[in-house]
Amino acid sequence: MKDPVKVAVLVSGSGTNLQALLDTFTRSPESGVRVTRVIASRPGIGSIERARAASVPCGVLPDRGSGEDAEAALHRELEAADADLVVLAGFLKLIPESVVRAYRGRMINIHPALLPSFGGPGMYGGHVHEAVVRSGALVSGVTVHFVDEQYDRGAIIAQWPVPVREGDDVDRLAARVLRVEHRVLPAVVKAFAEGAFGLDEDGRCRWSRPWFPGETFYINDESDEEA
Ligand code: GRF
Repeated sequence: MKDPVKVAVLVSGSGTNLQALLDTFTRSPESGVRVTRVIASRPGIGSIERARAASVPCGVLPDRGSGEDAEAALHRELEAADADLVVLAGFLKLIPESVVRAYRGRMINIHPALLPSFGGPGMYGGHVHEAVVRSGALVSGVTVHFVDEQYDRGAIIAQWPVPVREGDDVDRLAARVLRVEHRVLPAVVKAFAEGAFGLDEDGRCRWSRPWFPGETFYINDESDEEA
């Protein structure tokens, strides 16, 4: 069997996307993917407990003002992960240019809207869904993209639409989108491990097969209560 693709997951929050990755890949060792390290941007977040519960090593980046160089610390953490792929799953800090360069084509982010709309600086968490609801857009969704030097601007890898329903507020829409994130992110990580896509020389994502996984990916969004 081929060596598994080693994945580092960068987190800043509760880590439900991290959990989706752990659930998908730690329960099936034959999946070809291993989460080797979780890297938290700050102490005290739910993601750290999720990593511990799954027996995955977890590093915490230094606070601004702690004296330690955050950029060097991130390089060190990623080296400790021996990462083939770096996944930003709700990571709120801008990735330093030297790290982007070192992991270009091997670092991806999940965003809870259809980029290039509703992305960029300040567009995180509830701010994204609030902007979508305010805009009157009828469709939101999930985007996974390569990370470059700017927030939410790297080449788009995969997207999935999610309807905006009449009367949606931020929480309802966020929950509906999050359920889809939990399916899209593991699917994209698995596809990376299979070598199904990569970053082309022209800076765009190229798939060797269609991304859309078809009917199996249908989301019954009438069952919002399950979220
Ligand atoms: C997700 O909506 C993700 O798209 C965004 O931040 C949120 C993180 O949620 N980048 P969680 O920590 O994975 O629950």
